[in-house]
Amino acid sequence: MRRKLVAGNWKMHGSLSRNGELLGQLAAHAGEMACEMLVCPPFPYLAQAQLLLAGSGIGLGAQNLSEHPVGAFTGEVSADMLADFGCRHVLVGHSERRSLFAESDVLVAAKFEAARRAGLVPVLCVGETLAEREAGLTGEVVSRQLLAVLQRTGVAAMRDALVAYEPVWAIGTGRTATPAQAQEVHAAIRSLVAGYDADVAGGLRILYGGSVKPQNALELFGQPDIDGGLIGGAALVAEDFLAICRAAN
Ligand code: G3H
Repeated sequence: MRRKLVAGNWKMHGSLSRNGELLGQLAAHAGEMACEMLVCPPFPYLAQAQLLLAGSGIGLGAQNLSEHPVGAFTGEVSADMLADFGCRHVLVGHSERRSLFAESDVLVAAKFEAARRAGLVPVLCVGETLAEREAGLTGEVVSRQLLAVLQRTGVAAMRDALVAYEPVWAIGTGRTATPAQAQEVHAAIRSLVAGYDADVAGGLRILYGGSVKPQNALELFGQPDIDGGLIGGAALVAEDFLAICRAAN
């Protein structure tokens, strides 16, 4: 039985005052949730979130990390630094990193490995663009993104890691994949991993992301291979994020 996880990716949103309010509301209701809750604020707010979430049971994650452990890499943040601020999770290969910051499959795999080396739990994001879906390439693209990591780190590094399937065409567009479309890809991801290790695949939590809202969360989370969500816009509104977490109960 895989416990559901709902993660909020705040992207480049927030301020000290707005975060304080949001985190306070999330912490106040976290005890009601059966699912695991996770928030991923921008780097400068990790210390604030660490403080305000202490004892709430809500996990803290980051949105990105460097593939390097330490050194002259201006502007970069290492896995150990994230761990220093109480992060247990880190997103790796979000589609915005891949498309806007030219992160290749090779770089994403190196980041996954760097997270693992520091004891962090990577949330590997995969997903196809609209053009790729329309060309019938969804399976191929998602497999390629997963294989880049599996081949670099081995399947053992996938144990207890998370995968987030986010069709790029559904991110921030209001256009959600249907539960059946999402389920199909989630099942394919699990079966690909099962080809390496059935036990790891059985325990692997695969999140869906892309315009998840309180209105569609229940049906998405009801699919057998959808183990929670990676939430963008709706994670910035306490009542929406909490409603989505309730749908994962
Ligand atoms: O990481 C989160 C995703 O990119 C989904 O964003 O819920 O705003 O579509 P969204």
